[in-house]
Amino acid sequence: MRMWNAMTLNKKQVRELIALAREALEKAYAPYSGYRVGAAVHTESDNAYLGSNIENASYGLTVCAERVAIWKAISEGDRGIETIVIVAEDDQMPRPCGACLQVMAEFGSNDKPLVIITASLDGSYEVHSLADYLPMPFQFRS
Ligand code: THU
Repeated sequence: MRMWNAMTLNKKQVRELIALAREALEKAYAPYSGYRVGAAVHTESDNAYLGSNIENASYGLTVCAERVAIWKAISEGDRGIETIVIVAEDDQMPRPCGACLQVMAEFGSNDKPLVIITASLDGSYEVHSLADYLPMPFQFRS
């Protein structure tokens, strides 16, 4: 689903966030998979938080780029996540994993749909809502 109506970002700002996510990708620690991922979280306070995937010799301890970026925003006290941009060093369009979608669902705002932008290295990108990817997130006693 195209989200331009719901988005507060214009196309130039989207390009800037994609560029930031690509910078984050350069800092990935992915010696096991060789699959480097970068993420940029944009908040309603107009701040950007960057993250890359960080792998571990004990593979299950690996953390995705999206969660690193989200946790940086949250740990700085910035809860108003509006948009998350994801880039991966791959020919295929990246897709956020289910664990990251559930974490995004925790921090999306009630009034605005959280926007997920995935970008491939050739510059093409897709815009979807979190609800497109995860229509029925787990919610605890709400
Ligand atoms: N990865 C991410 O960073 N984000 C995703 O949404 C999917 C997977 C990382 C984790 C691991 O370092 C590598 O990609 C291969 O799974």
